[in-house]
Amino acid sequence: MTAFYLSKPYEPPQAPENLPLDLPWALLGGISPEKFMKKYWHKKPLLVRGAIPAFELAKTVHEPLSSPISPKELFKIASKDDVESRLIKAHPWSFEEGPFSKKSIPSLETADWTLLVQGMEAWHPAAANVLSWFRFIPDARLDDLMISIAGPGGGVGPHFDSYDVFLIQMSGRRRWKISEQTDLSLSPDLPLKILQNFQPEQEWDLEPGDMLYLPPHIAHDGIALDAGCQTWSVGFRAQSYKELIQEGLWRLAESLENVPELEKRFADPRQGATTSPEQLPNELSKQIAVLLRNLKLDQVETFMPGVAEYLSEPKPQAIFTPPKDALDIGQFKSLLSKQALVPHPQTRLIALGKTIFCNGEDMTLGQTPFNQKAWQSLAAKRLLKGSGFIANNPEDSLFEAYLAGWLIFSPSTERWL
Ligand code: SIN
Ligand code: CO
Repeated sequence: MTAFYLSKPYEPPQAPENLPLDLPWALLGGISPEKFMKKYWHKKPLLVRGAIPAFELAKTVHEPLSSPISPKELFKIASKDDVESRLIKAHPWSFEEGPFSKKSIPSLETADWTLLVQGMEAWHPAAANVLSWFRFIPDARLDDLMISIAGPGGGVGPHFDSYDVFLIQMSGRRRWKISEQTDLSLSPDLPLKILQNFQPEQEWDLEPGDMLYLPPHIAHDGIALDAGCQTWSVGFRAQSYKELIQEGLWRLAESLENVPELEKRFADPRQGATTSPEQLPNELSKQIAVLLRNLKLDQVETFMPGVAEYLSEPKPQAIFTPPKDALDIGQFKSLLSKQALVPHPQTRLIALGKTIFCNGEDMTLGQTPFNQKAWQSLAAKRLLKGSGFIANNPEDSLFEAYLAGWLIFSPSTERWL
């Protein structure tokens, strides 16, 4: 056994409620989030040595830190049915999807394998805390926190991603090679997306506490140098315009279900005798143009609620369980005066101005102004304190979201089971 097991786990703190956006951050290499977004985000790579200074500090006093999550804990999480995980082996390349039993994962000392576990923020508070520091980027862009654990030589091969990613080294060392090459052609006949002609331009060995930020389409290859190498990837998402428009349109179409004006039938008392009966009547286009204008269907403001609703959909594998022995509205109110309500880690909350969408539903529609304020604060802070927001009405949408398991009381043991 190596000293790896004897070291103390790093305990990442939760980010403060108001992130200091104009101050230098160690996490970003001594620049502010404002400067990072201007100079690097979605533009160019950034290597940060000592992004988490605690690792270097602990080393200087000979008390090295280990990853907040032990290999054993990680393997246990990868064995769950509702966790997305993949096992990748090199020489030759092979790919398997989880869940994985402990026995099916090679020992940490075995060479050339890596296990990737997605959505870790839902399964461990340390992962959720690390993610909380990235809220200087809109929630709608965030995908999840993935953890990779590997044996020496393990990696997913040279590839590129279509999304931005922050790669935080949490245990052991990983050698990263990157390239801004334009040839992004993939090797045919492999179970993985591997570049057929990777030409590294830069190379670094990352130690625990170091971080590499990569914008989309930068070719990269990360190879574990040590047994139990852990890399935590804060990953982002960006939908295609086609997806955004299609999803928005479907939802907009649904929202027209109860518009009285649209129940009326097409009427054409002004239709004249026609010599071209095969043509759609002009009157029809004219009337539809008027309707589109009147209902503001030609304006982006009308379209955006559907987009926000779509972006607030949780991951497909998210499972919400209603609370055991659910409180009634009175008990709920009284507990809320003592304990904070937080979103379940798999709950997505997106605000469009003052309208709040939670897990694909508009929660503020038809609710009291107090309730709407509460949702706005919950979306902004991801936490709600005080019971003044709740009406004594079991149809209050905060209470309904609690009953659905979308909102939970914190600290709650249920959160991390
Ligand atoms: C890894 O952590 O091994 C893979 C992350 C990546 O390259 O995107
Ligand atoms: Co990648």
